[in-house]
Amino acid sequence: MPATNRVFSGIKPSGDLHLGNYLGAIRRFVPLQDQMPCIYCVVDMHAITVWQDPADLKRWTYEIAAAYIAAGVDPEKSIIFNQSQVAEHAELAWIFNCVARMGWMARMTQFKDKAGKNSENVSLGLFAYPSLMAADILLYKATHVPVGDDQKQHLELTRDIAQKFNNDYATSIAANGFEDDFFPLTEPVIAGPATRVMSLRDGTKKMSKSETASDMATIYLMDDADTIARKIKKAKTDPEPLPETAEGLEGRPEAANLVGIYAALIDKSTAEVIAEFGGQGFGAFKPALAELAVSVLGPQADEMRRLVADPGEIEAIMRNGAERAREIAARTMQEVRSIVGFIG
Ligand code: TRP
Repeated sequence: MPATNRVFSGIKPSGDLHLGNYLGAIRRFVPLQDQMPCIYCVVDMHAITVWQDPADLKRWTYEIAAAYIAAGVDPEKSIIFNQSQVAEHAELAWIFNCVARMGWMARMTQFKDKAGKNSENVSLGLFAYPSLMAADILLYKATHVPVGDDQKQHLELTRDIAQKFNNDYATSIAANGFEDDFFPLTEPVIAGPATRVMSLRDGTKKMSKSETASDMATIYLMDDADTIARKIKKAKTDPEPLPETAEGLEGRPEAANLVGIYAALIDKSTAEVIAEFGGQGFGAFKPALAELAVSVLGPQADEMRRLVADPGEIEAIMRNGAERAREIAARTMQEVRSIVGFIG
């Protein structure tokens, strides 16, 4: 067993943050702070595995740090920083590139989805993406990683890399006086309703920050109250009223999505929401959802706008976070270097 539990998670600065990022990740970062030490990263090195305009990359990096803080991540208690500030991420990723197998990477569904038929023409970084993610996590020997369920496979690969490193270097790990489970086998923390928020225009597609079809499909964290209300009012639904039981949502993806969002925002189960709204039409439910969404997201959007308007405060927080992260990262890298047989 690793001596300490620790949380690590990260979000890529590759688009405007939306409700899916908030309900699936950011919101869940907050209560974990009372359970164990937490590290919340802006993974800018992951973002550039596909082209990013440098000005956008900076803006989105600030925006994510601001969202962490606005949601209630306490920068004194938890570590907030961006990945490229701590060079050890790249250093450990290289070693993991030499531990992981081509076949493991080639099986990653996220890679296959992103590369499509174009796999000869995507960046080498996109292929190696999961190895950098494993480095993010294992550099801090993190035991718990709150992520959306689309990241499960990457977490399994992180465990495979940890296990293979522990096995391949078992003799050297022992000779250097470390425990034989040098890297922990990290668990995903996937919980609660609406970890998967779907598009407001198509309940079978994930809400995304790269939605091109329609801006009405996505609620952005910086949207103002009127915009949020308008998007919810225009959200696609079916003609039936809400069912009397949660099971009645099956086969009704749009209704299930809106009820799931309501449940997540108010921290109740789907069944409790159905108990309240079952039998009512969307004409009654949508205004209630809009009001709830505005009351939860509005104050956070205001705080985000305040923070990004004058990034000095965010920069100071990230500089301090990076320093604290570097301390842990440097210790792990020193251990890894001696295990691998690097001199100096
Ligand atoms: N791959 C994650 C995503 O797309 C982002 C990420 C990078 C991450 N490194 C991480 C998440 C480490 C958790 C832990 O959502």
